[in-house]
Amino acid sequence: MNDLLSIKDLAIDFKTARGVHKALHNVSFSVKRGEIFGVVGETGCGKTITGLSILRLLPKSATIRGQIMFEGRNLLDLSETEMNTVRGGRISMIFQDPTSSLNPVFTVGEQITRVVRQHLRLDKRSAQIQAEESLDAVGLPDVKRVMTSYPHQLSGGQQQRHDRNGIGLPSLLVDRG
Ligand SMILES: Nc1ncnc2c1ncn2[C@@H]1O[C@H](COP(=O)(O)OP(=O)(O)OP(=O)(O)O)[C@@H](O)[C@H]1O
Ligand SMILES: [Mg+2]
Repeated sequence: MNDLLSIKDLAIDFKTARGVHKALHNVSFSVKRGEIFGVVGETGCGKTITGLSILRLLPKSATIRGQIMFEGRNLLDLSETEMNTVRGGRISMIFQDPTSSLNPVFTVGEQITRVVRQHLRLDKRSAQIQAEESLDAVGLPDVKRVMTSYPHQLSGGQQQRHDRNGIGLPSLLVDRG
């Protein structure tokens, strides 16, 4: 019973111009604290939308049914304000296509510092130091240059870097496809 994440009967439908597309039905799995859990399947089988549903990032055309229990709460019942403390604070997602999910008009340093400040309540300088330490921890060379670079100035692999726990996060979703 020490599941960190427990998904039960997850089903996702999309409203499309051609009617309702039943993209996912009756998916159930659990992930324990500290466990590394991989989901493998053919293209279009629903790996990405499963991750997006956990963070409630699916478009409005999607209907989600089922239960997503995380740290004792059903994420599908939380308000948007409560979800904002979960996203990036308790669960993070490294997106399949980082170039289009990172904000192109802010530097890497500004984007990481903003998340750190929002969740750890640090002043700007301390948050910058924390951001630099995180970049160093994932093995990126020349951290000062990376901090002032825009996402498109890094390689695809560099944009998807993460350490095992994110920045002290209990849960990290990594979408490789
Ligand atoms: N916004 C959307 N509107 C309608 N259908 C969608 C939408 N997003 C995803 N789908 C459908 O949901 C299904 C699952 O898509 P998903 O992106 O989760 O696949 P995947 O398993 O991650 O595939 P890949 O390995 O190619 O990344 C697909 O049939 C896809 O067409
Ligand atoms: Mg995918």
